[in-house]
Amino acid sequence: MISGTDPLNKRPIGIFDSGVGGLTVVKQVMDALPCEAIVYFGDTARVPYGTKSARAVQAFAVQDTEFLLRQNVKMVIVACHTASSVALTSLAGRFDVPILGVVEPGVDSALKNTKNGKIGVIGTRGTIASRTYEEQLLAKDPGVQVFPKACPLFVPFAEEGWLEGEIIFKVAETYLKPFRESGIDTLILGCTHYPLLKRVIAQVLGEGVALIDSATETARVVRKRLYELKIANDSQSVPEHRFTVSDIPEPFRDVGERFLGKKLGRIEQIDLEKVQA
Ligand code: DGL
Repeated sequence: MISGTDPLNKRPIGIFDSGVGGLTVVKQVMDALPCEAIVYFGDTARVPYGTKSARAVQAFAVQDTEFLLRQNVKMVIVACHTASSVALTSLAGRFDVPILGVVEPGVDSALKNTKNGKIGVIGTRGTIASRTYEEQLLAKDPGVQVFPKACPLFVPFAEEGWLEGEIIFKVAETYLKPFRESGIDTLILGCTHYPLLKRVIAQVLGEGVALIDSATETARVVRKRLYELKIANDSQSVPEHRFTVSDIPEPFRDVGERFLGKKLGRIEQIDLEKVQA
């Protein structure tokens, strides 16, 4: 059992994603838990995960987690929705530290929010093909109707910073029009990149559809869990945040600072193969 005086409190939280997108989760965790140190790993050498097989993503997720555990983290957050959808259960069974994903917080929030029981979910092809969101929503409330839809083009648009204007509006309209017909009142943004596109998504769907930002919901759950486990860091000193990637840092910096909304400082390139040897 973890005790309140355990040095675990001082250890960082580990957060990984396929690349830059998980910084939307880091941003919310920093806001919710300003005293916590963070080690972030973006697997930029192997991004995207959303187009790869569940088997490949499961293997990557194990390596990403092992890397973070070597950095002495007290908790691992799987910020990537694709990895959370296909690998969270196996990771949780394999490692001893608490491992949290981004799917369940979004599911719980959507169920709390919906009035008419019609919930839409958007994500990568891998996330939608896994049916994890559907299964979790229906397991918690068999009465709801779930409308899933892969929106793969949203990822490059978010990374390019094309968040507004005619072209992204057309793309969003093409993807999201079916939701207007199905009458959803709640939409889960089931991908790291989608919070950046909230405005255009809301423009297409109108005020009657609530958008569930999984990054915000996850940060809330992480905070609660750290306090329940008595491993939250209450010290008032400024925490250290480390950013690590598996490919060259510069492209990560350019997009990452926009996603995080602040400067990234030093970005370390690490070689997963060497770290594991
Ligand atoms: N981070 C991924 C996710 O949330 C999106 C980018 C990718 O396909 O790797 O599913």
